[in-house]
Amino acid sequence: MTEYDTILVDTRGRVGWITLNRPEALNALNGRLMHEVVDVATRFDADPGIGAIVVTGSDRAFAAGADIKEMEDKTGLDMVMEDHFGGWARFAALRTPVIAAVAGYALGGGCELAMMCDIILAADTARFGQPEVNLGVIPGMGGSQRLVRAVGPYKAADLILTGRMMDAAEAERSGLVSRVVPAGDLLTEAGAVAEQIAAKSLPSIYAATAVLDAAQETTLAEGLRLERHVFASLFDTEDQKEGMAAFREKRAAEFRHR
Ligand code: CAA
Repeated sequence: MTEYDTILVDTRGRVGWITLNRPEALNALNGRLMHEVVDVATRFDADPGIGAIVVTGSDRAFAAGADIKEMEDKTGLDMVMEDHFGGWARFAALRTPVIAAVAGYALGGGCELAMMCDIILAADTARFGQPEVNLGVIPGMGGSQRLVRAVGPYKAADLILTGRMMDAAEAERSGLVSRVVPAGDLLTEAGAVAEQIAAKSLPSIYAATAVLDAAQETTLAEGLRLERHVFASLFDTEDQKEGMAAFREKRAAEFRHR
């Protein structure tokens, strides 16, 4: 596989692992890292041998935000013309489920990257925040939109307007994280969740991520209509027949598409 400078990449069974690896900058997200993450994530997404992806950082930081030193001297025109964070839209659109395994700081773009994932597992050391106002800017990788949907408008405004950090317990109470685990168990837990997902039938998992994504964007009526169609379409798959036959025969399903 291609060599990367800012990330470590690994495949274990049907799970693709991406570890952000800029320890000197607390995994700050620079342009190179964005391109590398998007490149490998897109490859994983296109590979039917991969059923789930884990994105993680270090014990100290998932990511402390977009790279401030890289952005500092840019003009508004530079940001527009180079579409500075544009690549992340491709990451957010992956159909393979992505699990963010977060320890330490997940700030600014780091929190926003976690929110582009389907599941957020937090170590009890995790700290989330959108501190961009401290820099004279606002969230720029989706924070003002995804955080409102994740935690509601009042908690989101509290975080975005004050720039304060919240710990893992508050993040879990607020609905930002799926589970909190002891820091030492984070990667084991992330691997177990990823393997559990990767053992399912891929067409049903792709269908599930599509309707879950739609739930963030559409009206209830539209979303229910989409769900009904997608649900019906799965009855044309071999894996639906196998899954239901296995239930009736009281055995484990042997899905073809996984
Ligand atoms: N960009 C670039 N470098 C960063 C960085 C970032 N976002 N965060 C940390 N670093 C660098 C520091 O500059 C430092 O490097 P040097 O040793 O070369 O000075 C190194 O990482 C270690 O950081 P600290 O010495 O600051 O570590 P600390 O333990 O004292 O503090 C911290 C940790 C509270 C996370 C602090 O580093 C910090 O506040 N970082 C910036 C957080 C931030 O503002 N994030 C938002 C960025 S803007 C954004 O993300 C926009 C968007 O919406 C997309």
